[in-house]
Amino acid sequence: MLVTRMERLFESSKGRGRHIQKLYVVSSFVAICFIWVYRLTHIPSNAKWAWLGLFSAELWFGVYWLFGQALRWNLIFRKTFTNRLSQRYDESRLPGVDIFVCTAEPEIEPPMMVINTVLSLMAYDYPSHKLAVYLSDDASSVITFYALLEASTFAKHWLPFCRKFNIQPTSPAAYFNTLLSKNPYHHHNHAKHLAPIKKLYEDMKRRIEDASKLGAVPSEARSKHKGFSQWDSYSSRRDHDTILQILLHKMDPHNSKDVDGFVLPTLVYVAREKRPQYHHNYKAGALNSLLRVSSKISNGKIVLTQDCDMYSNSSQSVRDALCFFMDEEKGHEIAFVQFPQSFDNFPNDLYGNSLPIIMEVELPGADGFGGPLYIGTCCFHRRDALCGKKFNGECKIDWNEENDELMKEANDLHEVEEESKVLASCSYEQNTLWGKEMGSRYGCLVEDVITGLSIQLQGWKSVYYNPQRKGFLGIAPITLLQILVQQKRWAVGEIQILLSKYSPLLYGHGKISLGLQMGYSHYNFWATTCLPILYYSIIPSLYLLKGIPLFPKMCSPWFIPFAYVILGESASNLIEVFMVGGRIQGWWNGLRIWLYIGSSSYLFALIDIILKCFGCSDSPFIVTTKIIEDDIFQRLKKEVMEFGTSSPFFTVLATLALLNLLCFFGILKELLLSKGVLASEKLVLQILLCGFLVLINFPIYQALFLRTDKGRLPTDVTIKSIALALSACILFKLLI
Ligand SMILES: *[C@@H]1O[C@H](CO)[C@@H](O)[C@H](O)[C@H]1NC(C)=O
Repeated sequence: MLVTRMERLFESSKGRGRHIQKLYVVSSFVAICFIWVYRLTHIPSNAKWAWLGLFSAELWFGVYWLFGQALRWNLIFRKTFTNRLSQRYDESRLPGVDIFVCTAEPEIEPPMMVINTVLSLMAYDYPSHKLAVYLSDDASSVITFYALLEASTFAKHWLPFCRKFNIQPTSPAAYFNTLLSKNPYHHHNHAKHLAPIKKLYEDMKRRIEDASKLGAVPSEARSKHKGFSQWDSYSSRRDHDTILQILLHKMDPHNSKDVDGFVLPTLVYVAREKRPQYHHNYKAGALNSLLRVSSKISNGKIVLTQDCDMYSNSSQSVRDALCFFMDEEKGHEIAFVQFPQSFDNFPNDLYGNSLPIIMEVELPGADGFGGPLYIGTCCFHRRDALCGKKFNGECKIDWNEENDELMKEANDLHEVEEESKVLASCSYEQNTLWGKEMGSRYGCLVEDVITGLSIQLQGWKSVYYNPQRKGFLGIAPITLLQILVQQKRWAVGEIQILLSKYSPLLYGHGKISLGLQMGYSHYNFWATTCLPILYYSIIPSLYLLKGIPLFPKMCSPWFIPFAYVILGESASNLIEVFMVGGRIQGWWNGLRIWLYIGSSSYLFALIDIILKCFGCSDSPFIVTTKIIEDDIFQRLKKEVMEFGTSSPFFTVLATLALLNLLCFFGILKELLLSKGVLASEKLVLQILLCGFLVLINFPIYQALFLRTDKGRLPTDVTIKSIALALSACILFKLLI
């Protein structure tokens, strides 16, 4: 017998520079230990409590820093071989793929954006009869349904157009946008086909936008499709029957082919039943309904979960993902393949590079320890793992097995629709394991991360795939407040994981690797870092006013570990920013955003969690808006930070900024008047820290005092923060 080793469908390589990185981590950790020793051996009599506070802050910073280093210890990068996949498996042997797109608020997620995402996904380079796209509309908006219906017609032209001319990206809006920036004459061999399709698109867009503006579907369209009648019994967004419509299906004799006569992917609209007395569990609930509904209609073995604001930027992503799942050696262990969440709406890095760093550094780092986190979108799942199946080494899937029986029994699509509706009803999940051990898990503000974690705790692995050309592109929040609010929600969710029965730190032992336990902890403990951050940005500055030193003086050997840690961390952050293609300015901005998130979002997240423990807060899942007003965007382009509204987040930030400004002026005055050059030697680190905080807060002083545009800080925030900062300084001077 001839035994040949099959060529792998994917390849993994380790990150460059990892030995230097490891050396850096070890040496920095030694320096941190020296700092702890210094704190414990040099407690002064005149500032004992402040000193011990600093020790606690540094202790926690140090431990937390170590968690973060786990995500930088062993970076893994993956490469796929889609040509081998095609050689090994012909079309008939590829599995079905179900794509779930979730939308919830038509006001902030415009239907045009949603259908562009849907169209981009329908155009995957994959056998259409194995592809099914489901749109879950938690707002049950008739306009969204109308838009999807329009999209199903437009797809009959768009998909053949993409196929014929190999169009990329396959989102019409994104594609037409790329044309704007190119020379209109020299690039298309398909110029004469372009104009008609563009016109079709523009006409469709106009109809949908008119309907959105009017808040009603044109009666002509309404009478043409029976699907609209499902809104007849509709009373409100929170109280209605399941609305489910199969818009395209290969079994539908009248409506299944594109203009070239090829079968189109299945397309289904679902608005699950809502009743006031049933909790709907937000996005997790929507995904679980889709899991059940799709099992009746297409039952693809692979499921892609996708946010409605992220379109597909590469028609190869399905095949890329299959290279992992279908790999003969490792494929059977892999539960999900996470792609990065990338964005195409940043004109600059005013708000830092924290997401790119998670995507380019930390997730490859998590991959090195057995699996990236599931981040809710751009992720391909093995259906049975997502539905709660435990991993056992034996269960190699037979990709071959055909699924068409499902449909052969049901000769009537209408029958299938009616049967599926039951699966999306409110009461269906009662007394079942859905949301507990099956499907997306409930009760957590980061339902995606906890779901991924629970899958990993069942023994499965996951994989992170970050191709050169990004698989998905979307819209990121781009005002400061949106970012702070989103970060607060994430931080609350992460703490919920820590306190849940899936807590990686408490229960992960033996189920996931230590590195991954630490990696998860890095996110789980996000909110707690507000304590050391706030302490560090308040106490040393206030002690400056008294001239009491809290750090070693420059000529002391104890100065060295502080300098090493500060310089080392700055340099290592800077290198990471360069690695993700950022600039020095982006590094500085990132530092600022880290500080702002740490001192406001995380603070409010912590307060939220504490209130929750006493049962007096229920933070809802807030969808971040995707609509950006033009003047805000213009300011962003000029790299001017957006404030504009009164928010407690801004009051906290402005107060901290002013407090440091006051302390800084205070010490300057002292130094100038008393020629206290000698004293300054003892205070050098403290002065530098305070000076750094003043420098980095420059945009806040501008927004408080210098700007006149609509994005400045409102007067009431100015007054409140001045009062708070002044009274803190005065009280401190008097009392301590
Ligand atoms: C998105 O796709 C286009 C067209 O294929 C490509 O030129 C571009 O580089 C991709 N964008 C990213 C961020 O990878």
